[in-house]
Amino acid sequence: MKSVLPYLDQHKNRFINELIELLKIPSISADSNYKNDVIRTADVVKESLIAAGCDKVEICETPGYPIVYGEKIIDPNLPTVLVYGHYDVQPPDPIDLWDSPPFEPVIKKTELHPEGAIFARGSCDDKGQMYMHVKAMEYMTSTNQLPCNVKFMIEGEEEIGSESLGWFVERNQEKLSNDIILISDTGMIAPDVPSITTGLRGLSYVEVEVTGPNRDLHSGLYGGAVANPINVLTKMIASLHDEDNHITIPGFYDKVDGLSAEERAKMGEAPFSLENYKKALDIHSVYGEKGYTTNERNSIRPTLDVNGIWGGYIGEGAKTVIASKASAKISMRLVPNQDWEEITKLFKNHFESIAPEAVTVKVTPHHGGQAYVTPIDCLGYKAAEKAYEETFGKTPIPQRSGGSIPIVALFEKELKSKTILMGFGLDSDAIHSPNEHFGIWNYLKGIETIPQFFHYFTEMSK
Ligand code: BES
Ligand code: MN
Ligand code: MN
Repeated sequence: MKSVLPYLDQHKNRFINELIELLKIPSISADSNYKNDVIRTADVVKESLIAAGCDKVEICETPGYPIVYGEKIIDPNLPTVLVYGHYDVQPPDPIDLWDSPPFEPVIKKTELHPEGAIFARGSCDDKGQMYMHVKAMEYMTSTNQLPCNVKFMIEGEEEIGSESLGWFVERNQEKLSNDIILISDTGMIAPDVPSITTGLRGLSYVEVEVTGPNRDLHSGLYGGAVANPINVLTKMIASLHDEDNHITIPGFYDKVDGLSAEERAKMGEAPFSLENYKKALDIHSVYGEKGYTTNERNSIRPTLDVNGIWGGYIGEGAKTVIASKASAKISMRLVPNQDWEEITKLFKNHFESIAPEAVTVKVTPHHGGQAYVTPIDCLGYKAAEKAYEETFGKTPIPQRSGGSIPIVALFEKELKSKTILMGFGLDSDAIHSPNEHFGIWNYLKGIETIPQFFHYFTEMSK
């Protein structure tokens, strides 16, 4: 396939401006106040797929937010690539910490993005990365270089658990049939160290509530004589890790797929600077499970983290009170072979069993999903490797990520195909955080690399 660069040069300003328009719509799936904006974004994505040369584009209604589906089938005998992405974004909070409003995109240079980066919620996760595929499609169709069939499936509920997508995939297996699934919704090591994500962690997300007395009490009159739900909750949470930072839930590690010494050694070869890592986060030292490196802790090991905790008085000044209730939200990141529903049960049983008799504990499971690993000897991975070699001039490093895209494991189960995770974001792009951004260079590099993947995947399938 010809180099995409001349076309990119000619059209890059338009590509950037179109993405900026998309980023202006606050498609926050978690907040129902933005319902109309989420739906409006689906329409914009639909129009962009039509403009990019898809033959059939439709808005598919679901019990939740719509899924945008598009396709161009040029020959049923050729392979089919299914592109998945999401048009919804995380809430922008805390809004005060943004240097510019989250839905008014601006381009600024940073140390890691000397060509400039677009600052806006969703710029990297995932509107910017999803839109690379739309523009790569435009390039392939308008230059008559689309080598195979393409299907697009862009959803609006990824950030809240992809419930409707699961529903949709189960009902549309024929429509979604494909030879490989391609997703850009992850990251890479650095612009000069290309990498392909070969794993995602699973997830179990639960909420816990500890109730003591039937009402808030004077902490002088009752303190010491009744269970304080906040004291109890924090003690219970603290007990979930031992002094080596292993998780104490019985059976939690039973099914964990450990890596061989050889695989761990290979992982350790990926470039990583602990000094820079600490510097970027302003921390004196790292912290985690004994016996594992930082990169192992955040990718191949399961974790348990409190994501939020509340209860009692948090207003100005002091109020002497024992709250009636205390709560927390807890996420567990899981690794291959751990079943999220089983882990959720283990957590629930354990958490209930460690509660003192003086309180009542309620555990409410939220969403979850299984981990996923892409085998590096599959055709799709090899094609992706070739595509990166072409555009980066280097062989990409396979790297397992700590993040989760729970729907990927479901794709494998329902559609029987592998997923290639070609992410172009950097860890420092601040996804889910204030000042999220996506490098212009990364955006264009994605648009350059994707058509090469289509080319090599089609060639190698012959
Ligand atoms: N795109 C992210 C996941 C991701 C980011 C994976 C970077 C690897 C590297 C996705 O949008 C996301 O935020 N997923 C959630 C899970 C979801 C069920 C809310 C996550 O990982 O917390
Ligand atoms: Mn995402
Ligand atoms: Mn996300």
